Amino acid sequence: MMSMMDWIDARFPATKMWKEHLSEYYAPKNFNFWYYFGSLALLILVLQIVTGIFLTMNYKPDAELAFASVEYIMRDVEWGWLIRYLHSTGASAFFVVIYLHMFRGLMYGSYKQPRELIWIFGMLLYVVLMAEAFMGYLLPWGQMSYWGAQVIISLFGALPVIGEDLALWIRGDYVVADATLNRFFAMHVIALPIVLLGLVAAHILALHEVGSNNPDGVEIK
Ligand code: HEM
Repeated sequence: MMSMMDWIDARFPATKMWKEHLSEYYAPKNFNFWYYFGSLALLILVLQIVTGIFLTMNYKPDAELAFASVEYIMRDVEWGWLIRYLHSTGASAFFVVIYLHMFRGLMYGSYKQPRELIWIFGMLLYVVLMAEAFMGYLLPWGQMSYWGAQVIISLFGALPVIGEDLALWIRGDYVVADATLNRFFAMHVIALPIVLLGLVAAHILALHEVGSNNPDGVEIK
């Protein structure tokens, strides 16, 4: 008799993908401490998305309401303080993990042929992750958020010729304002997380196409 899994496998590569990317992924035996950080980065990404969804349930992306809605999360929402601290501390932990992950790549030459694309997807991930963290920082709409946004957006204003227009385009107003808060919210909760997930998928597909490097640099394929 045909099992449910056979029925699915005849229509969708579920078991094939499970084997290829998890149960039968051919990994070197001499992995060490430094090889934990890719999976840890993935774990933190999932935690940030889950805690972010719960924060979004009570946050208000409006210059008049944002700060008070964060105070509400901290004081009145059940476990809200924990969800928020997991999300803000998680953001910092993400960078600690990513720097160790990148350092491993530099240390063992994981960026070299045939793994150039893994590295390039990694560099894109790093830039998008910085944008994601920066835009999230504006959302509580406190003094630190406001002036942080002021400083970083002004950096774009230092570019010759296009600088001033570019800064205006990013802000959506002549000063950091409600329009800025709204667009940063849209980017932070929807646009950039989708880009991050897509890049992570590309990063891992590229890795699994050529296989992992290892501390001795001996190719196992
Ligand atoms: C959200 C961010 C990221 C996630 C979730 C992620 C995930 C992973 C995972 C799961 C692996 C396989 C396990 C491992 O070797 O540690 C890996 C490998 C790798 N990652 Fe990332 N990564 C991220 C960002 C980056 C960045 C920023 C770079 C560099 C600029 C990078 C470069 C690499 C390289 C070169 C490898 C292959 C390492 C080897 O085989 O020796 N990754 N990544």
